[in-house]
Amino acid sequence: MNVIEVQDLHKTYGHGEATVRALDGVTATVPRGDYVAIMGSSGSGKSTLMNIIGCLDVPSSGTYRLDGVDVSELDESQLALVRNRKIGFIFQSFNLIARTSALANVELPLAYAGIKPKERRERALAALEMVGLTDRAAHDPNQLSGGQQQRVAIARALVTEPALLLADEPTGNLDSHSTEDVMGIFSELSGYGRTIVLITHEDDVAAAAKRVIRLRDGRII
Ligand SMILES: Nc1ncnc2c1ncn2[C@@H]1O[C@H](COP(=O)(O)OP(=O)(O)OP(=O)(O)O)[C@@H](O)[C@H]1O
Ligand SMILES: [Mg+2]
Repeated sequence: MNVIEVQDLHKTYGHGEATVRALDGVTATVPRGDYVAIMGSSGSGKSTLMNIIGCLDVPSSGTYRLDGVDVSELDESQLALVRNRKIGFIFQSFNLIARTSALANVELPLAYAGIKPKERRERALAALEMVGLTDRAAHDPNQLSGGQQQRVAIARALVTEPALLLADEPTGNLDSHSTEDVMGIFSELSGYGRTIVLITHEDDVAAAAKRVIRLRDGRII
């Protein structure tokens, strides 16, 4: 079973002489349990591809099946639903809610999903344990190091058990020690069978993945 199937994706911006082909015929599959790093120089189309994979944007042409669902034709509200159900996002800048405990941050996606408070708490604590932060559950983001904040963000991404963990430069704001911590968690999650796609500029981060997809000028090389 493939979590991601993209077929001949094109994304163009602008018209006429000013047309930019951000994606120029990308075809790829990511089977369940795969761990893929997407690399490429600035302007190669990584963010464009990530936005489409993350159901944050739609291609100009081509098809995208996410966890068996053709999402190429969905409208904005349907995409939002698929996004919440199927994808756990991890961003470079963590995107935690300020003045809100680590535990409450991790509970939030479960609250959106309508899970009752008791189960919410149990699952959020289990996710925090998974990233080694049980003892920081009551801390607010500003009381945590960058690496710890990113681990909370990973716990928040995985707590809903999404089909896909999608990370955009997850170590971009971290020092080398925290980078190792975070990469260790991704490896562990991969070992448990999680499907992970991450975008990175860093060779040593990409080296931890099972597979690297390289983009150049909107194409896979
Ligand atoms: N909204 C937009 N309007 C016009 N052109 C865009 C837009 N977004 C991206 N582009 C162009 O599409 C191409 C791919 O951009 P993209 O952001 O996907 O690159 P990237 O690989 O993520 O680069 P970086 O490593 O710098 O983040 C670039 O040439 C960029 O200028
Ligand atoms: Mg980018």
